[in-house]
Amino acid sequence: MPRRLKELHEEITRTLSGVVESPRREAELLLIAYLGKDQLYFITHQDEMIDELDPRLLEWVAKRSANVPLEYLTNRVSFYSREFYIDEGALIPRPETELLIDEVLSRVSAHEAITIVEVGVGSGIISIMLALHLPNARLIAVDISPKALAVARCNIETFGLADRIELREGDLLSCVDEKIDLLVSNPPYIAHNAPLESNLSYEPQNALFGGEIGDEIIRKLLDEVYGRRIPIFACEMGCDQRNKVQEYLKPFAVQSLEFYTDYASLDRGFVLKAVHE
Ligand SMILES: C[S@@+](CC[C@H](N)C(=O)[O-])C[C@H]1O[C@@H](n2cnc3c(N)ncnc32)[C@H](O)[C@@H]1O
Repeated sequence: MPRRLKELHEEITRTLSGVVESPRREAELLLIAYLGKDQLYFITHQDEMIDELDPRLLEWVAKRSANVPLEYLTNRVSFYSREFYIDEGALIPRPETELLIDEVLSRVSAHEAITIVEVGVGSGIISIMLALHLPNARLIAVDISPKALAVARCNIETFGLADRIELREGDLLSCVDEKIDLLVSNPPYIAHNAPLESNLSYEPQNALFGGEIGDEIIRKLLDEVYGRRIPIFACEMGCDQRNKVQEYLKPFAVQSLEFYTDYASLDRGFVLKAVHE
């Protein structure tokens, strides 16, 4: 049955009500992606007649009702005011990770020719934003997951950064021999048995879980910082991991260890400047 865009919007909003937090907004985003248009088009074409519905839209609505993340249905995610491709191969970027990028950018001058290594590149958002802001930096971005690397590759090519960001498949820094000026990571940091919201079950589990306790990968990266004499390490972490990081670093020489908080004022990460005697 043909109907107007605004009627379809109402219909999908009703279906998603009580299931997702912002049904109206999500119905709008689904329709924008379905039409392959932008928000301006959506707002200005409310009376457009939609003649026949592609089963793809009905499938999206059904899957969203089953809590599949919207971003995996539309293959679009917004981060740091840019749009990125995303699929189930990589973690959906979270807004708080923008703060990690800001922490790095506030400590590096724009034209420095440094080598930055990212461990756990996922969709590529961190390395891409750093490459865009730091035109002389060389980036090496590692992930253990070939599926995540495929998502990162897609985004890196879209942004025209294939000659600036080198992707490597490997475990932590095992595939990096170069001298590293700055290490950055949003590693998996959730404990294996932590209770999680159901939508997280759709995301790659090796992007979420850091080990039995949760901070195992962070500790391994701290060991790498001292083993390889890396001057700066910027890292996202869980809101309850500040003490563990401080405790772990006690035997090491530290020039500064600054923690930052997220939009909910929870501890979310740190920047370590290490001393290498
Ligand atoms: C929390 S996600 C971060 C993804 C992306 N950087 C972001 O901020 O949205 C962690 C990433 O680390 C990768 N990873 C997990 N264990 C790893 C390891 N041992 N070595 C390298 N990458 C790893 C996962 O595949 C995942 O892509």
